[in-house]
Amino acid sequence: MKGNNHKILPFNNFNIKEISKDNILNIHQLFEKNSRFFSLPFDYFQRGTLEDDGLDRNLSLILYDQKEDRPIAAVLVVRRKEIDEKYCFFKGYVVSAQYRRQGLGSKMFSELVKRLREDGITQIIYGPSVPNYWQPGVDIRDTSLYFFLKRHGFKSSRAIYNLTVPLNTINKEPAKEKDGYIFERVLPNDFNKTIEFIKKLFPNNTWADEVKFSLKLQPPTTFIAKNETMEIVGWATHSQFFPGSFGPTGVEPSIRGKGIGTKLFLWCLWDIKQKGLDTCEIMWVEGDTIKFYSKATGAYISPIYYPMYKKIKY
Ligand SMILES: CC(C)(COP(=O)(O)OP(=O)(O)OC[C@H]1O[C@@H](n2cnc3c(N)ncnc32)[C@H](O)[C@@H]1OP(=O)(O)O)[C@@H](O)C(=O)NCCC(=O)NCCS
Repeated sequence: MKGNNHKILPFNNFNIKEISKDNILNIHQLFEKNSRFFSLPFDYFQRGTLEDDGLDRNLSLILYDQKEDRPIAAVLVVRRKEIDEKYCFFKGYVVSAQYRRQGLGSKMFSELVKRLREDGITQIIYGPSVPNYWQPGVDIRDTSLYFFLKRHGFKSSRAIYNLTVPLNTINKEPAKEKDGYIFERVLPNDFNKTIEFIKKLFPNNTWADEVKFSLKLQPPTTFIAKNETMEIVGWATHSQFFPGSFGPTGVEPSIRGKGIGTKLFLWCLWDIKQKGLDTCEIMWVEGDTIKFYSKATGAYISPIYYPMYKKIKY
């Protein structure tokens, strides 16, 4: 059934406001009530919006019905100069359920494109706005969002897989020591060394910045492995994207294959379980690594994300 004969709401009945500390709670509620497959605690939501240096307040549109004091639709937009200053990233796009299919999402999009042109933006990406992002694309289960973006000219070229790990088999605390390596939660003394280790191992991506967020949590959600001379040789981070998320992680190349990565992973799973969660979501897994996790822990592919892109024409 083609849905082009639905009631169209006049856009001038709505006010557009900026995201601010006065309305952030209500915007969080809007996303919580109207996103079927994704939920974030308020502190994570705030960290990814008002506390995100890249948040673009002019492009993030918060829509109010003139009769109501709560927002009824919102698009959250960030920019990442390090990636490309002419790009912008969607972090979320939502219309309150009772206002859907009345053209509101599309009108909001037209207003946004007008503003994007004024700012000289050349591309919109619904994808990983590293280092501070929640989802690496559109969760393909969000059917309305996927078709909405396609309708507005967005394209997708590949899928990104997350893996879900059930925690029912994680029943005992992992060992603190194995084959001369020790495993521990990172403590403030080791914060700088850990970040330096990650930067040295992976100089070309934003993992060090991602891990930094986990050091601000209480307690920090990064675990490290040390060798006999107390040098850091590996790390694994969880709950930095959202509670129960896993990644990034890495082990010094010369000692890979000795089970150090698995131990660090198990420490994270254990820690997540202690927080009362029953699944862990491994972020952005590629190729044979999927097989590794699935054999090691019974992880299965879910959710699947499609990064989506649209070039802005001038
Ligand atoms: C996607 C969304 C923002 C669209 O807003 P909207 O105001 O309902 O959209 P519009 O009325 O402007 O519809 C425009 C087009 O989007 C597509 N679309 C909208 N809803 C759809 C649905 N349920 N199924 C398939 N396509 C849909 C259609 O192509 C539609 O045009 P058409 O009716 O002429 O075919 C809204 O449905 C929504 O909030 N969905 C949930 C989003 C979500 O889960 N966000 C969480 C992650 S941040």
